[in-house]
Amino acid sequence: MTETTEKDQHRTGYDFVVVANRLAVNRVTASDGSIGWQRSPGGLVTALAPIMSSSGGAWVGWHGAPDETLEPFDHDSMHLHPVPLSEQEVEDFYEGFSNGTLWPLYHDVIARPLFHRHWWDAYKRVNQRFAEATALVAAENATVWVQDYQLQLVPQMLRDIRPDVKIGFFNHIPFPPPGLFAQLPWRHSVMKGLLGADLIGFQRESDAKNFQRAVRARLGFYIKSDRVYVPLEADAAAPLEGFTADPARGTAPRQLSAPAEGTYRGSEATAFPISIDTDRIVELSNDPKIIARAAQIRAELGNPEIIFLGVDRLDYTKGIRHRMKAYEELLQQGKLQVGTHTMVQIASPSREGVESYQRLRDEIELAVGRINGEFDTMGHTAIRYLHHSYPIEEMVALYLAADVMLVTALRDGMNLVAKEYVAARKDGSGVLVLSEFTGAADQLRQALLINPHDIDELKAAIVQAAVLDQEDVRKRMRSLRRQVVSHNVQRWAEEFMHRLHQL
Ligand code: F6P
Repeated sequence: MTETTEKDQHRTGYDFVVVANRLAVNRVTASDGSIGWQRSPGGLVTALAPIMSSSGGAWVGWHGAPDETLEPFDHDSMHLHPVPLSEQEVEDFYEGFSNGTLWPLYHDVIARPLFHRHWWDAYKRVNQRFAEATALVAAENATVWVQDYQLQLVPQMLRDIRPDVKIGFFNHIPFPPPGLFAQLPWRHSVMKGLLGADLIGFQRESDAKNFQRAVRARLGFYIKSDRVYVPLEADAAAPLEGFTADPARGTAPRQLSAPAEGTYRGSEATAFPISIDTDRIVELSNDPKIIARAAQIRAELGNPEIIFLGVDRLDYTKGIRHRMKAYEELLQQGKLQVGTHTMVQIASPSREGVESYQRLRDEIELAVGRINGEFDTMGHTAIRYLHHSYPIEEMVALYLAADVMLVTALRDGMNLVAKEYVAARKDGSGVLVLSEFTGAADQLRQALLINPHDIDELKAAIVQAAVLDQEDVRKRMRSLRRQVVSHNVQRWAEEFMHRLHQL
């Protein structure tokens, strides 16, 4: 990019801009004490990095530290544009509206969503800041891809400032049924914010349909074949200040036919299920050091016959308590035995400033203590619980060590852990027990699918997974692997971008 004034910077800015709550890099301290940046390990960054370096890309996001303003910088062929958040905004925008209101509401109100007007004010303010930062770095006619529920107002806010750019949005979490979404006091503003995008991607078909039904019922817009006909007057009626108050209550009169040519613009709402960097997981699962580490893990656990594994962020959506309840009852009934069976539960720390997460941690640790206290022997443990995050190498070693992977989420946008487990099991062994309430269940049909609320069904699936005939295990895993190998995150990103450019 050449040097320009701020005013005309967008004429020479970046042709592809990703906007996400978090920047694509983490700050790291080297052994000599110097501070540097390291590319984030997640699949999203891995998928987008090649597009970024080939098309002159920039990434706009928060760098993770409150009350700190950083200058834009380049790292690993990416231009990084940090957006500052104050300590108060971390509380109100991130922990508050994003994770205390939207997160529980969008995950079927498993926890009670809290509606606070000052959280909403912070959400609007921070979304506006992201939109302005993006408007500054995007080149004329650039493609901008906004990520996730923390930034749902950015598409329309950006369109108001920069009508020339092409805007995509992807929602990584579920979109709730219209009856639940209706609880949100600012539901109209959120829908209008999203409809600022040319293409709105969801994880599941049902998420896209939920969004379309909410738009039809509340805004009355005409929708056909996933295309929402957004009246141009809606753009004019919703400049940035339009977000300060929600329109009148209730439903809007429904448009029954497509509006006249020239009076609307299209916004497509459709499903694009995300995936993982499959090649990377397969490569790691072939690494002799990681294979040796998997054997070491089994030995350290006392070489049990069956290792059950759970890997989750410590989040109430993941159904960790349901899993433990089922496991505890199976031990009580003697259907599983400590020594022969072991469960490893990795619970990575998450959103520790949010009260519901603090409560969940207490509850889970109480349950683990009780179960281990009752069933452990001197040499063996019932549940090996680890409240840590691990690098991907250790995760793949765990996937290789585990005979059964337990994914019992009560609601999950996708669940990439399920796909990673499948990718790692290249020899066709291993059983996946998978909640039907995950996005992954739409694609991984050969898993043992369960309703985690049904503890008896969950118990039956755990026992079945432990005794499944080897021929059946291999048949199922082969079919699961075909899915995950042919649908990786790179393909997901390409398909989304391809559709966005077609529109
Ligand atoms: O699944 C939604 C998501 O925002 C992911 O993108 C992210 O990895 C995870 O939740 C944890 O998010 P955070 O630590 O930023 O709250």
